[in-house]
Amino acid sequence: MRIQILPSLLAADLACLGREIQRVAEAEADALHLDIMDGHFVPNLSFAPDTSALCKKYLPADFPINTHLMMTNPDAYAMRFIEKGSTTIQFHLEMREQVDICKLADEIHTKGARVGLALNPDTPAEAAHPYLECADELLCMTVFPGYGGQTFIADVLPKIKQLRAMAPAIDIMVDGGINFETAELAAAAGANAFVAGSFLFKQPDMKSAIKELRMRCQKAFAHP
Ligand code: DX5
Ligand code: ZN
Repeated sequence: MRIQILPSLLAADLACLGREIQRVAEAEADALHLDIMDGHFVPNLSFAPDTSALCKKYLPADFPINTHLMMTNPDAYAMRFIEKGSTTIQFHLEMREQVDICKLADEIHTKGARVGLALNPDTPAEAAHPYLECADELLCMTVFPGYGGQTFIADVLPKIKQLRAMAPAIDIMVDGGINFETAELAAAAGANAFVAGSFLFKQPDMKSAIKELRMRCQKAFAHP
């Protein structure tokens, strides 16, 4: 499976956001990860649909914008993000009682974007089972969402293994506390896509850090 590395813009220097967005493409990342917080699903606020437009302006035309909606009402915003340039929309399974997951996934697919289903650390793998057909990727949170710079929760590793066994062909992405060591653990458990915020943005040379991260994950990823 293709190993993917996605820097999270949440950890960028907001005083020079345009330049930080360019840095992600120059570092040969696979996509930019854009974290959207609503102050309800998570106790914090971050970016808005116009941030997608800003990313698009500073990125090469075909560079993917992977948008993680930490929101109670992703259905009210998904289309707005796609219109502004987001190419993947990830939303949370914890909202499955309130949000029609497959209907929203269909709408996103109709607009030509990819669908990711996100699971908080305490949401079991089984919760994703009924929705696997609707999703292009699973986003396995390795911290409780809301803030960058938190510590990787290793208790999530068995769940990644379970998800990989349930969905051998799907992209499994991890998000939260990712660095060289934790990425290797997640890759060995079956993850093939890695979001990293603080770890990558604090690197003086993001390009060589991504290169090394990719190499380590490729080695540790033991699944065909
Ligand atoms: C957490 C966000 C993450 C976060 C990752 O709420 O979904 O994407 O930015 O940041 P680090 O890599 O610093 O844990
Ligand atoms: Zn995220």
